[in-house]
Amino acid sequence: MSFGCILILLYLPGVLLNPVGCSYDATNVLYTCNARYWSLPLLFSDFTIQPQRILLVDIAGELPASAPNGPTFSGFGSTNTALFDGRFSPSLQIMCFVNSDLIIFMDTFADFDWLDEVIITDCNILSLPVQVFSHIGDVNSFTIEGGSIINMVANSFQGLNVKKITTAPTPKGSFTIRNSQITSGQLAPGALFNINNATTIILENNHITTIGSDTFQGVPHLYNLTLSYNDITSIPESIFTNLHALEHVTIWGVQWDCTCDKLWFIPYASDNNITVNGDIVCYTPAGYYSFHIGEVCITALDVVNFATVLLILILTIFGFGIIVHLHCKEKNEEERIEKVRGIRNVMADKIAGILRNKINKIEEFVQDNIDIYREKNKIREETKENQPKTETPTSPRNLNEVDENEYSSDDENPCESDDSRDDDDLDETEYQSSKRDLYTSHEDICH
Ligand SMILES: *[C@@H]1O[C@H](CO)[C@@H](O)[C@H](O)[C@H]1NC(C)=O
Ligand SMILES: *[C@@H]1O[C@H](CO)[C@@H](O)[C@H](O)[C@H]1NC(C)=O
Ligand SMILES: *[C@@H]1O[C@H](CO)[C@@H](O)[C@H](O)[C@H]1NC(C)=O
Repeated sequence: MSFGCILILLYLPGVLLNPVGCSYDATNVLYTCNARYWSLPLLFSDFTIQPQRILLVDIAGELPASAPNGPTFSGFGSTNTALFDGRFSPSLQIMCFVNSDLIIFMDTFADFDWLDEVIITDCNILSLPVQVFSHIGDVNSFTIEGGSIINMVANSFQGLNVKKITTAPTPKGSFTIRNSQITSGQLAPGALFNINNATTIILENNHITTIGSDTFQGVPHLYNLTLSYNDITSIPESIFTNLHALEHVTIWGVQWDCTCDKLWFIPYASDNNITVNGDIVCYTPAGYYSFHIGEVCITALDVVNFATVLLILILTIFGFGIIVHLHCKEKNEEERIEKVRGIRNVMADKIAGILRNKINKIEEFVQDNIDIYREKNKIREETKENQPKTETPTSPRNLNEVDENEYSSDDENPCESDDSRDDDDLDETEYQSSKRDLYTSHEDICH
């Protein structure tokens, strides 16, 4: 029951005691007035609670300043700012019905000098007449978001003083046009000359194609500038001249013309303590990119050319290296094969020599034995005839004993010899040196 009572109490002012079409959200200290249901003017005295934050929705057409259809507001000169809730900035938001046209006049806002925030959302703004916001005077933030701006003149914002209001819950000093198509492709020349106390200017996604070099020259306190997602390809040189307070420039999503002279602001920013946030994506010239290295601007073509030359050089050196390497390897292989071949030859020579020695010795042995045999027989025959002789003939040479020394030293055959060299000549010194060679190369060849 008590819950229902609270609901009714909260709801009552919105339903019963406020202007038709207006409702109050106490939590956000916000009056919402719907243009479909209201009947103008909205009388200050009809509001149960003094309006501090006003949201006008479903606007389609004009917010009249005078009879017969208006004015839009009446009696708001009685607003007592001392009664405002300090947690919220006094504000007016004008929200159109799906990009409907908006027609406003300077006197529409005649009694609204107490506003700190002005927001126009999703409106097709047919015109921003001369000094249209001048009654509003000082504001902490001014924003146009969504929709479009069909017509703007140099003095559209004259009398609007965007400045950082230090007593505001969030001191901003910001002038913002965001996601709103500026159909002419540029701000009216001099349009921001009157926004000269702003510290933040955001011109984001407005289809701006041209920014004059003097656009911000009337904004000496500009500290934070955003120009993201516009159709510009460069920003003019000297655009930041005299902006001594400028510290943050944000430019995302711009298709830069990346010739070196168009990227002047990169070294300028670093020289002037300006932080540039954003991606520099080059659109023209095709395949062109510029790098600033200190004071030097190097284009992508320079880099590509340099990289190409470097690549060719590296490839050349590499290729040459491979050839040299292969050549050396080949040469080494040849030398190795030659060495092995030589050693085999020597071994073959050696074996041939050994065999020849053996054969010689066998021949010698056989000859010796034949001689001894003959001699024995002769002696035997003589003894038979005369007397037995005690004389012993020379013992036949033992084949194994004879060659033992020589043979054993030659026995360690480092590799199996399958060679078929038929050169039998073996010079003794050559043989000895080959043998040394053979031993030193033993490991090398067999493993
Ligand atoms: C900017 O601030 C100065 C000093 O408060 C003031 O004199 C000047 O009128 C302001 N600019 C605008 C456009 O109101
Ligand atoms: C600059 O403005 C942008 C947009 O409101 C904001 O996000 C950013 O924090 C601001 N930067 C500084 C340093 O105030
Ligand atoms: C940039 O900042 C440095 C250190 O904060 C300062 O010494 C220098 O004077 C500044 N330069 C400019 C152009 O503001």
